[in-house]
Amino acid sequence: MKLLLSFLCALVTSSALGADLERGKTLYSQLCFNCHGPTLDGGQGPSLRDQYWRHGSSPAAILEVINKGVPGSAMIAYEEVFPEADRLALRDFILSEQEGMRETVRSVYPVEYFKGKRFAPKDFASVESLSQTPLPENHYYFKRNGVGVLRGNSKLYIKTAGEYRFSIGPIGRTSIFLNGEEIHYSDANTDKKTHFNKTVTLQPGVHDLEIFHEEKKSHSYRFRAVLQQVGGKSFALTGRSLEGNIPKFIKARPGEALVVRKWIKDLPPRTLMCLLSNQVIVALNPVDGQIIKAWHSAEINQTPSLPDRSAKPSEVTGTPIDQFKSSPLKSDSLRFLRYQIKGESALISFKTQDGEKTVAISPEGAQSFSISIQ
Ligand code: HEC
Repeated sequence: MKLLLSFLCALVTSSALGADLERGKTLYSQLCFNCHGPTLDGGQGPSLRDQYWRHGSSPAAILEVINKGVPGSAMIAYEEVFPEADRLALRDFILSEQEGMRETVRSVYPVEYFKGKRFAPKDFASVESLSQTPLPENHYYFKRNGVGVLRGNSKLYIKTAGEYRFSIGPIGRTSIFLNGEEIHYSDANTDKKTHFNKTVTLQPGVHDLEIFHEEKKSHSYRFRAVLQQVGGKSFALTGRSLEGNIPKFIKARPGEALVVRKWIKDLPPRTLMCLLSNQVIVALNPVDGQIIKAWHSAEINQTPSLPDRSAKPSEVTGTPIDQFKSSPLKSDSLRFLRYQIKGESALISFKTQDGEKTVAISPEGAQSFSISIQ
C-alpha cells in the first residue's frame, strides 16, 4: 500500500509539473516571446535568462512582475489577463529555463569573529550580520575600503549534467560551499594553480551555493569568481555593476570642469554636458551653440547598456535652473570645432563668420554659472 501510494504521488507531481511547464511554454510562445524573444534571450524586453534581473530573480519577484507589470514600460500587468494557475505556470516555465546563479542575498559580517577560523556556514548562524541585501545581479562587492566578511547565498540553476570547475580571482580568502559542503578554499598562501582546478560533478536542478569572501585589509574591488562547465559554458558568480545596483555617477573633480557627451533623454544626441566644479551641469547644443538646459546640485547617473538588454540613456539628477543667460553667439552659420578644459571653465570653440569664437562656461556661486565669449 505504502509503495502504491508513493508511486501514485510521484505520478501526480511529475505529471502535474510537466503539464504546468507545457502550459507555461505555450503561453510564453503565444505572448511573451514577442518582446522577450523565442529563447528568452530578450528583444524589445530584457533577457529572462541572463544574470541581470532588474526586479529580482526570486520566484516571488518574477511572479510579482508578471502580476503587476512595470508601470511606465511595455511590460503590462497580466493579473487580469490570465488566471492564477497560468501566471504560476509562466513563472515556473521561466525558472525552468534558468542557468547560473539566481536569488542571491549578500550579507556582510564583522571580521573579528572569523579571525583564524576557516569559513563554515554553521558559524554564521551565531553572529549577527551587519547588512543583508537581495541582489538583482551577482555582485558581491559592497563598498570600497569597507571591512567585512562577505557571504553570498544563491540558488544555482544547472541545466546540463557534467563536470564543472570554479575559477577564483586570487585575492583575499574565499570559500565555496555547494549543497552544504565545502568544495573550494583559497587564500593568499594558496598556490595560484589551485584556484582553477577544483572540479565537481553537477546534476541538472537547483543547488544551494554559498560563497564566503574576505579581503586582506579592506575590500578594494570586486573579486572574480567564475563557474565553468568543463568544455562548456561559463557563469560569472560575481558580476559587473550594472543598472540599479550601484549606479555610477559622473561629476566634475574639485577645481576642474569636465565635458562629456552622453545620451540623455530629451536632449539632442551630441549635446555637450559641461560639468562644473560647483555641481552645476550645463547642456550645450554644439549644432547651434545654444544652452538647452542647466541644473544645480547635479550629477549624471550613468546606466551602462548591455548587449542583451535594451540600451538605456543616462540621466541627470539635480534641480533644473529656471533662468540663465542664453549664449551670446548668433546661432546661424556656426560650426562646432572643439571643447577644452581650462581650470574651472569649459571652453567651447566655434567657427563663425567673424572667425573663431570660444564660449567659456564657468561656475558662479554655489548654484549658477557664467557665460562669456573669448
Ligand atoms: C510588449 C512587450 C512585452 C511583452 C508582450 C511582455 N513583456 Fe515582460 N517586459 C517587457 C519590458 C520592456 C520589460 C522591462 C521593464 C522595465 O523594467 O522597465 C519587461 C520585464 C519583464 C520581467 C522582469 C525582468 C527583470 O529583469 O526583472 C519579467 C519577469 C517579464 N517581463 C515577464 C514577461 C512574461 C512572462 C510575459 C508574457 C506573459 C511578458 N513579460 C510579456 C516587455 C514585454
